[in-house]
Amino acid sequence: MAKAHFSRIGFILAAAGAAVGLGNIWKFPYITGIYGGGAFVSIYLITVLLIGFSLLAGEMMVGYKGGKDAVSSFEIVAPKGQKGWKYAGFMLFSGLLIMTFYSVVIGWIFHYIYLSVTNNLPTTMDIADTTFNNLVQISPITSTIWHFLATVFVAVVLMGGIKAGIEKANLILMPLLLLILGGLLIYATNFDGFHKALVFMFEPDWSKINSEAIVRAVGHAFFTLSIGIGTMVTYAGSMSKEQSLFKAAMWVMVLDTLIALIAGVMIYSFIFEYGAEAGKGPGLVFKTLPVILTNMGTTGIVIAIIFFIALAFAGLTSAISLTEPSVEYFIQRFNWSRKKSIIINTSLYFIVGVGAILSYTTAYGSTFSIGDKPLFDAIEFTTDSILLPLGGLAIAIFVGYILSDEDRKEILQDRVNPKVYQVWLFSLRYVAPLAIVFMMLNNFGIIKI
Ligand code: TRP
Repeated sequence: MAKAHFSRIGFILAAAGAAVGLGNIWKFPYITGIYGGGAFVSIYLITVLLIGFSLLAGEMMVGYKGGKDAVSSFEIVAPKGQKGWKYAGFMLFSGLLIMTFYSVVIGWIFHYIYLSVTNNLPTTMDIADTTFNNLVQISPITSTIWHFLATVFVAVVLMGGIKAGIEKANLILMPLLLLILGGLLIYATNFDGFHKALVFMFEPDWSKINSEAIVRAVGHAFFTLSIGIGTMVTYAGSMSKEQSLFKAAMWVMVLDTLIALIAGVMIYSFIFEYGAEAGKGPGLVFKTLPVILTNMGTTGIVIAIIFFIALAFAGLTSAISLTEPSVEYFIQRFNWSRKKSIIINTSLYFIVGVGAILSYTTAYGSTFSIGDKPLFDAIEFTTDSILLPLGGLAIAIFVGYILSDEDRKEILQDRVNPKVYQVWLFSLRYVAPLAIVFMMLNNFGIIKI
C-alpha cells in the first residue's frame, strides 16, 4: 500500500495541533504571570522566532527527506559513514515519557469539564483549593479513570492512521479550538480588564527579568513548538513534497504563538476584571479562573464549559503527536501492526502515568518518588530540562553541521530566500546550540547566567 500523505492544510493543522497544547493555554499564561508579564513575553517571542523556528524547520527537514519514522529518517538522511546518527531518532521515547504526565493533566481537564457541566465548579478560592487537592492528592481513582479515557481517545484516533486519524482529528478540533478561543477573546474585549491584560502582556518591565526567567522562556519555546522528540520528523515524514517546508514551519510557529497570546490576553482579561492575582502559578486555570467564572452566573458556567473543552482539544491533538512517533517506529522497524503498536505504546505510558498520579497523593506519594521528587515532577524535569534540550541539540548539530549545504538546499528545493536561509543557518549552528547548552547548565545549577 502506498504511504498516506497529509494534504497541505492537513499537515499544517496536524503540526500546529502538535504544537498548540496545554503548553499554550495552561502553562504559558501562568509562567507569564510568575515572571511578571511583558518582559517575559518579549523574551519568549524572540526565542521562538530565533531559536524555535530554526529548530522546528530543521526537525521537519529530517522527516521531509527521510519519509519514515524518526530513527529510519535520521539513518536515511545521514551521510555515508555517519549512520550512527540514527540513534538520535531515539529521542522519540521522550514522547512516551511526556505522555505519562501529559495524559494525566488532560484527565484533570476532563474532570473540570464534568465539574462545569454539573455546575460543581468552586465558588471561592478556598473551595477551589479543596476541589483541586481532592482530585490530585486524595482520589487517585478519579484521576486514573480520566487518564484512562484520555488514553483511549488517543489510541482510537491513532488507529485511523495519518489521513483518517491524525489529519481528520486535527481538521475538526483545531478550527473549533480557534473559534472558541477567538470567541472568548472577543467577549473579553468588553471588559476594562482587557486593556489591563494588554498592558500586562505587552508592556515590558525589564526589572522583572532575571536569569531564571530567561531560562524558562527558552525551555518553554522548545516545549510549545514540540521540538526535540521527533514529532516533527515523524509528521514531516508524511508531508507532500509539493509543500514548501519553510512556509509550513512558519505557519505552525505563527499559529502556536497566536494561540498562546490569545489565551494569555483572554485569561488575564478575566483575572484583572475581577481583581484576582496574576502570579499564582499552575492553579491559574484550575482554581482562579473557575472561581471567577462561577461568580459570573450562567454566562460564566457556559464559558467554563467551552473553555475546558477547548483546553481538552488542545491537549488531545498534542497527545496524539507525542505518541505517534513511537507508534510509527515500532510499525516500521519491528513490523508490528498499527493496532499492536498502539496498544503496547499507550498501555506503557498509561501504567507509568498511574505511578505519576499516585506520586501526588498523600497516601502513596513517598512510595512513588525518585529522591525527593514525586515521580510526576521527576519525569517532567527529566523531559523538560534534559531530554528535550538534548533532542534540540541533536537536531541543530545534525542539520547545521552533519548535513552539507547541498543536502540542505536539496531538501529546501530553492524555495527559501537566500538571506532568510543564511539567518536561519546561523541561528541553527550558533545561536540555538549555545542557548541550549546555557539552559542545561543553568538547569543543573552548574552556572548562573
Ligand atoms: N507542544 C505541546 C504543548 O505545548 C506539547 C507537545 C506535543 C510536545 N508534542 C510535543 C512537546 C513534542 C515536546 C515535543 O503542550
